[in-house]
Amino acid sequence: MTRSTLFLLATTLFSLLPLISAQGCNSTVSCPSTAPCCSEYGFCGTGSYCLGGCEPLYSFKSTSCRPNPICESQETNFTDLSKVQMNGTKYDGNATAYDWVVNTGTLVPTPSGDGVRLTLRESDQGTKISSTRYVHYGTIDFVLQSSKWNGVVTAAITMSDVKDEIDWEFPGAVTDKVQTNYWFLGVANYSATQGASSDISSDASSNFHTYTFDWQEDYMNWSIDGQVVRTVLKTDTLSDDGSQYKYPSTPSRIQLSIWPAGISSSAQGTIDWAGGMIDWSDPDYVSNGYFWNTLQSVKISCANEDQQSQSTTGWAYQGNDTQGIPIVDVTNASTLLSKSELTSVPVQNHRVVALVGILSVLVLSGITLF
Ligand SMILES: *[C@@H]1O[C@H](CO)[C@@H](O)[C@H](O)[C@H]1NC(C)=O
Ligand SMILES: *[C@@H]1O[C@H](CO)[C@@H](O)[C@H](O)[C@H]1NC(C)=O
Ligand SMILES: *[C@@H]1O[C@H](CO)[C@@H](O)[C@H](O)[C@H]1NC(C)=O
Ligand SMILES: *[C@@H]1O[C@H](CO)[C@@H](O)[C@H](O)[C@H]1NC(C)=O
Ligand SMILES: *[C@@H]1O[C@H](CO)[C@@H](O)[C@H](O)[C@H]1NC(C)=O
Ligand SMILES: *[C@@H]1O[C@H](CO)[C@@H](O)[C@H](O)[C@H]1NC(C)=O
Ligand SMILES: *[C@@H]1O[C@H](CO)[C@@H](O)[C@H](O)[C@H]1NC(C)=O
Ligand SMILES: *[C@@H]1O[C@H](CO)[C@@H](O)[C@H](O)[C@H]1NC(C)=O
Repeated sequence: MTRSTLFLLATTLFSLLPLISAQGCNSTVSCPSTAPCCSEYGFCGTGSYCLGGCEPLYSFKSTSCRPNPICESQETNFTDLSKVQMNGTKYDGNATAYDWVVNTGTLVPTPSGDGVRLTLRESDQGTKISSTRYVHYGTIDFVLQSSKWNGVVTAAITMSDVKDEIDWEFPGAVTDKVQTNYWFLGVANYSATQGASSDISSDASSNFHTYTFDWQEDYMNWSIDGQVVRTVLKTDTLSDDGSQYKYPSTPSRIQLSIWPAGISSSAQGTIDWAGGMIDWSDPDYVSNGYFWNTLQSVKISCANEDQQSQSTTGWAYQGNDTQGIPIVDVTNASTLLSKSELTSVPVQNHRVVALVGILSVLVLSGITLF
């Protein structure tokens, strides 16, 4: 066999693997009983697939996902990382042990010791962290400095397992403005009354500002340093046919990220929005080895916390209400994975394991590909 035939064989096998092992899940295809949980990335599996981000409506049963750990009012000062699980795949669902998990990427303490940097390298997809607990209405204060390079985006958001979302987004090199937006079940509304840009009083990449979501059952207020810059009332979001309030209403994790929008695999609209392609020869990148934003603290004040009973562990999805909007109720069920569930190989990794297998068979047979 020639090298190119072998390469073709290997890549063909590789491309077939996801079909064999990592079953996808979406609004039309739910997960099977053998891999019951639909991860936030749309793949079926067990173990960590059943934790944060697990999509209840696309899973085998709406109860396949672990409950959403209930809200506890708290403030994290990111100079102290003792309650941040740096390796998200080690997290077992114990939201008392950890307040945050690093889903992807790397955190680096700031040189001056006033917080932590979320980093973006050419070799990765940036960094994303998530709270382990969920907020079902409440107030969230982020104290942060944005990134400041073309193509690089900083985001501070709430995200539910059914893709209700509220955003602060800092695209590209613009450091005197921030965008606000929200999604209802994964659908954004970019009309004039929704996606909006707000001024910041001083450079957002070199000064800490406080960005607040005040997310309540009837309204959302976005504030910068205590000044309300945008309000959306639930009543503003009634669909044209009057059938649904397109308003975020499901328990959400808090997520912070830095991500590369200005790369060739992005859609042109995304690249333009983020200020163009990333310049990996930028002196800041070259001297640090990464781009970054800086997180100082996140304060969470839960709504209705006083109404939770001692034994309440979380929220669990109960299906849709009569308007087709997913609803949750409190539960006492465990949010934890067992040891064996935690160590089960995530289905997504089978593809990598299998590729390594194919390559080592080739190597063992004395065949080199490249
Ligand atoms: C759902 O997933 C199936 C199987 O992976 C795919 O064929 C289908 O196009 C997907 N549907 C949607 C709406 O994404
Ligand atoms: C965070 O902790 C550091 C070190 O203890 C302290 O100097 C700083 O004031 C704290 N920051 C906030 C916002 O509480
Ligand atoms: C994270 O934990 C998993 C499972 O314990 C391990 O396989 C992996 O190497 C760890 N990753 C890092 C970056 O330490
Ligand atoms: C969860 O973590 C807390 C704090 O580390 C610990 O006290 C508790 O025993 C853990 N719970 C379980 C069920 O492992
Ligand atoms: C977006 O919002 C406008 C005004 O509230 C509404 O008329 C329109 O139907 C919405 N579009 C979508 C896709 O929800
Ligand atoms: C939310 O914003 C609106 C409009 O600026 C303001 O009237 C209202 O008082 C704000 N609510 C709270 C609780 O701050
Ligand atoms: C729940 O409602 C959504 C629309 O909001 C719909 O797509 C979905 O099929 C519904 N699911 C069930 C189980 O009724
Ligand atoms: C939770 O546990 C308490 C006490 O064991 C019980 O009274 C209550 O009904 C349970 N609630 C739910 C939602 O299961």
